[in-house]
Amino acid sequence: MGSTAPAVDALRLSLHVLAAAVWVGGQFTLAGLVGTARQLGPGAPKALARAFARLSWPAYAVLVLTGLWNIQAAHPSTQSLLWRTLLGVKIGVVALAGLSAWLHSRAHRPAGLAVWGGVSALTSVSALVLGVVLAG
Ligand code: HEM
Repeated sequence: MGSTAPAVDALRLSLHVLAAAVWVGGQFTLAGLVGTARQLGPGAPKALARAFARLSWPAYAVLVLTGLWNIQAAHPSTQSLLWRTLLGVKIGVVALAGLSAWLHSRAHRPAGLAVWGGVSALTSVSALVLGVVLAG
């Protein structure tokens, strides 16, 4: 937690966690709905994925903006070397999550969809866990 007023800390972390819920939870929810979407028609999974992208990319942008706000509030120079190292790892993992989600959205073959979808889910969950560790 930073040293700013508790209400501002609550707003900052709530926005970050809400965006994480959309970005990470949405991927799992979408994966769970794809089977049912296929029964609605051949174009339904793609339409569902496009609708999700309109929510998930703004959520990703909110994660990056509130993440920078988190760093500023945490005063990194006063944090341990471990904390700063984990933050660096987390930023790399977040970049990989964004890249793999983008590659997943552009993939056409089932293998590409599966690999990039899997990498995106794994890196997104890793970013979430690293965030919880950083928050202490
Ligand atoms: C996929 C993207 C991301 C996810 C899923 C994610 C998730 C989370 C979660 C769940 C927390 C814990 C909040 C709490 O327990 O109160 C957190 C904390 C944190 N996140 Fe992220 N985050 C993401 C992106 C980022 C980015 C891009 C940055 C930096 C630029 C960042 C920096 C931080 C910091 C510094 C904390 C600790 C906040 C504190 O202790 O006040 N996050 N994150």
